[in-house]
Amino acid sequence: MNTIITGLQWGDEGKGKIVDYLTEDADVIVRSQGGNNAGHTVIAHGKKYVLHLLPSGILWDGKLNIIGNGVVLDPVGLLAEIEKVEAQGVKVTTDKLFISDRCHIVLPFHKELDVAREAALGDRKIGTTKRGIGPAYADKINRCGFRAADLLRPSYFREQVKHRVSDANQVLAQFDLPQFDAEAMADEVLNAFARLAPHITNVIPLLHKAWKDGKTILFEGAQGSLLDVDFGTYPFVTSSNTTAGGSCTGSGMPPTAIQRVIGVCKAYTTRVGSGPFPTGDEGLSQYLHDLGREFGATTGRPRGCGWLDTVLLRFACMINGVTGLAITNLDGLDEYETLKICTAYDVDGQIVDLPPADREAWDKAVPIYEELPGWQVDTTACRNYDELPANAKAYLTRFAELCGAPVAFVGVGPDRAQTIVVG
Ligand code: GDP
Ligand code: IMO
Ligand code: MG
Repeated sequence: MNTIITGLQWGDEGKGKIVDYLTEDADVIVRSQGGNNAGHTVIAHGKKYVLHLLPSGILWDGKLNIIGNGVVLDPVGLLAEIEKVEAQGVKVTTDKLFISDRCHIVLPFHKELDVAREAALGDRKIGTTKRGIGPAYADKINRCGFRAADLLRPSYFREQVKHRVSDANQVLAQFDLPQFDAEAMADEVLNAFARLAPHITNVIPLLHKAWKDGKTILFEGAQGSLLDVDFGTYPFVTSSNTTAGGSCTGSGMPPTAIQRVIGVCKAYTTRVGSGPFPTGDEGLSQYLHDLGREFGATTGRPRGCGWLDTVLLRFACMINGVTGLAITNLDGLDEYETLKICTAYDVDGQIVDLPPADREAWDKAVPIYEELPGWQVDTTACRNYDELPANAKAYLTRFAELCGAPVAFVGVGPDRAQTIVVG
């Protein structure tokens, strides 16, 4: 069975942990969009790993890990990540990691342009991870980007990149930012790329062979549905299709290859960066931060926290075709006396149960809540559904009902063992 794992909120839902859990039975793990803006925390064999571009299957022996064409690849960032996990004892060998020759490349000036653009936006900034993701995808769509295959021909890349650097320098000059020297930049990128070059290949036949041979393929989504460039809270989104369809366009696997879509969401809601967050709640944020929870894996920024928002989740379940929910961080709510669930928004007196497209409507959205009693019991030692307190089960039942998808997994702690399989 081939599975897409996708985030249903604004990222950081705990996808890394669920991917890692399902990796045990998978043969191939694929990243198909995003870049090193992602930060996936995996606690395996008692050790904590934070992965950005590497698929989570890299922590296992005997699995194929694929970075698909939909990913934007920062050679310097990926090299640093490889060195970090290798220092933790993980081997990143050519029989484990395969990178599509069609991947677009994040170049150093993309990161500077990202920073410059954010600074220029002032208080309208998106709150990006400053990893150059937007500018790299913009070059891809604008047909002036570079792909991994181009870097395999260093002299061609050196020659061609001069033009792009010259254009980027003009923009940077408008912001009084330092200019890039095309030669020095090409050296830096090609040096990092030298370590990656043996991993670059046409991954499509590899994936199709695995499919034909009946192997199990897992697509590891990055970011979340409300950060999707089409379906999210535009413009406060990332620059890729984070929803299930992105797994196909970003890998070369057809929709007919997919049997299951697991939607990962927290038992509450979090968001980093700017943009609408109707159920955001300062009290809940403070509470979770005081517990040392909800600090970003990529930037260390505190995440804003809020109550469960089933308007978002209902929509996310629809557009992803979610067949099962993986609800993580249930234990984060263990001590609360009363829990709120947002069932709809009131937008200027109109009750809506799906997210609006119009940004003014987002600003006006007032959540409509129903309240459920908390369970006030430590759930972190629960290992099966029946062991959960009755009020926790009632919360999960209502959760699934409002989202229109059944619960498949429940997380009660960060460890792999703290994952309850439902049904
Ligand atoms: P991802 O980007 O979706 O992979 O999620 P992140 O790794 O950025 O953030 C999720 C955070 O929640 C990480 O710190 C995980 O270790 C943690 N986590 C995941 N599932 C659970 C859970 O069920 N309970 C607790 N307490 N932490 C969890
Ligand atoms: P994972 O895979 C949470 C957010 C940024 C910002 C917006 C645009 O760990 O869930 P970008 O750098 O992509 O141009 O930033 O998207 N963002 C994430 N938020 N988790 C992520 O990844 C994110 N990747 C990007 O905070 O609001
Ligand atoms: Mg994350």
